[in-house]
Amino acid sequence: MSINASPDFIEVADDDRVFVLTGAGISAESGLRTFRDSNGLWAGHRVETVATPEGWEANPELVWQFYSQRRREAQASQPNAAHFALAELEKRIGDRFFLCSQNVDDLHERAGSRNMVHMHGELFKSRCEANCGAPIIEDSHSYNFIREIPICACGSRLRPHIVWFGETPLEMTRIQQEIDRCTILLVVGTSGAVHPAASFVHWAKVRRGAPARTYYVGPEEPLNASAFTRIILGKAGEKLPGLLQPGEPTALPGRQ
Ligand code: OAD
Repeated sequence: MSINASPDFIEVADDDRVFVLTGAGISAESGLRTFRDSNGLWAGHRVETVATPEGWEANPELVWQFYSQRRREAQASQPNAAHFALAELEKRIGDRFFLCSQNVDDLHERAGSRNMVHMHGELFKSRCEANCGAPIIEDSHSYNFIREIPICACGSRLRPHIVWFGETPLEMTRIQQEIDRCTILLVVGTSGAVHPAASFVHWAKVRRGAPARTYYVGPEEPLNASAFTRIILGKAGEKLPGLLQPGEPTALPGRQ
């Protein structure tokens, strides 16, 4: 692992395929709180009560209040320079770009990202808790001020389309395939505390073919830092535009 070493941009050659994993840190400069920072969401809320199937069973109103607040905050925020830099890279290299976000907000899409998945679900969607076969619905309502939980046509409750702890992340087959064929893995703004996302850097090293080059961008080293080829310390919105734009390199400072 090298920290803030040269070169000052990530060179993407014509035969490279780029897999990007983002976490809450990429939305921090848009004003959305991360989970594990000192003022993060898990400092003010107990994970078990708002982000587990057991919490939902015990108090669905509280769970809907929590995600309704997240909806309001996401609606009031805008994509930042880091979201736009990734969308620009996708425009430049087309389907050799793949984005996997742990974030449930829609800031990547609003910045223009298209070839992407939300492995932990999507804030602005709801689904039947009984998996009755009804489609997942677009849903931007805030349910704070109602006492009844929204109901599916089948009579069961509607729940947020969020992957809670103890549930299986979404799109894992596609994610595994994309990691297998990437030559560059860029991870942005995630603490490396939650698996399987925290394992992607390891998967990229043992993929079929040569190990991918792996980069992490964020203000502090993640828990899995030692697995990366290179760690670039700094805020995503300040670092990513220069890193991903050949011809407009941003000089990287020494170790911070
Ligand atoms: P965390 O809160 O665990 O980590 C956020 C990371 O973002 C930290 O490592 C910060 O250093 C970094 N960070 C803060 N500001 C940043 C900035 N401006 N630019 C870049 N990085 C910055 O959030 P995640 O790792 O995303 O899951 O959390 C993973 C999962 O745990 C979430 O998807 C969520 C949570 O519980 C579910 O709810 C299922």
